[in-house]
Amino acid sequence: MTGVRDYRLSLERSRQALVREDRPAVFTMCGREWDLLPEVFAPIYSPATGIALDFLGLAETSGEAGPRGYSGAPGALRPGSLLEMGSGTGVVAVAAALSGCARVVAADINPAAVLNTSMNAARHGVSGRVRAFHSDLFDQLDPGERFDTVFWSSNYVLAPVEYQPRTMHERAYVDPGYAAHRRFLEGAPGLLAPGGTVLLHFSSRGDVPALHRIAGRCGRRLDVVRRTVVREGEHEVEHMLLEVIPAGDSARCPEVVR
Ligand SMILES: C[S@@+](CC[C@H](N)C(=O)[O-])C[C@H]1O[C@@H](n2cnc3c(N)ncnc32)[C@H](O)[C@@H]1O
Repeated sequence: MTGVRDYRLSLERSRQALVREDRPAVFTMCGREWDLLPEVFAPIYSPATGIALDFLGLAETSGEAGPRGYSGAPGALRPGSLLEMGSGTGVVAVAAALSGCARVVAADINPAAVLNTSMNAARHGVSGRVRAFHSDLFDQLDPGERFDTVFWSSNYVLAPVEYQPRTMHERAYVDPGYAAHRRFLEGAPGLLAPGGTVLLHFSSRGDVPALHRIAGRCGRRLDVVRRTVVREGEHEVEHMLLEVIPAGDSARCPEVVR
């Protein structure tokens, strides 16, 4: 594989984001300051976080213009409760609480990201409405919990199924065999309150046809509800917000993409 979808390119992007000498301990986004811990996905080295905020309608939480202002479309976040999978620094989770979400639950497989999310919730005075916890997808979620929105800005780059991420940080970029995506597509709809929605932020750095194939085999349909194209270095990258909709039989849901 060559070009923008090459997982080795994303591993290099991960490495560079970790070792940059100018990597700050605090960064500014949406007119607010945010803590950034080592080993946590840095929203300042990728447009993904800013685009996610914009897709959800959270880019203007501070009352200022969002970081890039891509779409101008109304946000896709439902009022009420949010489960954010993979919260990283917690910018999206905290912005959701600041925008009026009554209950935000934020999970991440990276323990440093869980701490980082809690720090930023405290920094912005919403600790009472943002609960961050360590979990591999939904594994540690309370069984009865239901949400109006389940959202993941995912590690959308497909790595070979046998690839073993060397750091937690690499897990923010690549998903070997799309094993985590399969589990997300399969499990997320069951966590919704009536009228709720599952949203997946994906991009053309990922394998869109493979994702649709997995979704189909899991009995899910993926509808594009927002999209935008941005230049990332030498590449034009399409970002999309996909709504995950139950649409049939999940008996043939594959474990991984080979
Ligand atoms: C692209 S980053 C997005 C981070 C943050 N939401 C943002 O917008 O800045 C993807 C996040 O998903 C997390 N992640 C990857 N695999 C996961 C899994 N199996 N369970 C929970 N979180 C996971 C990563 O640790 C990372 O924080």
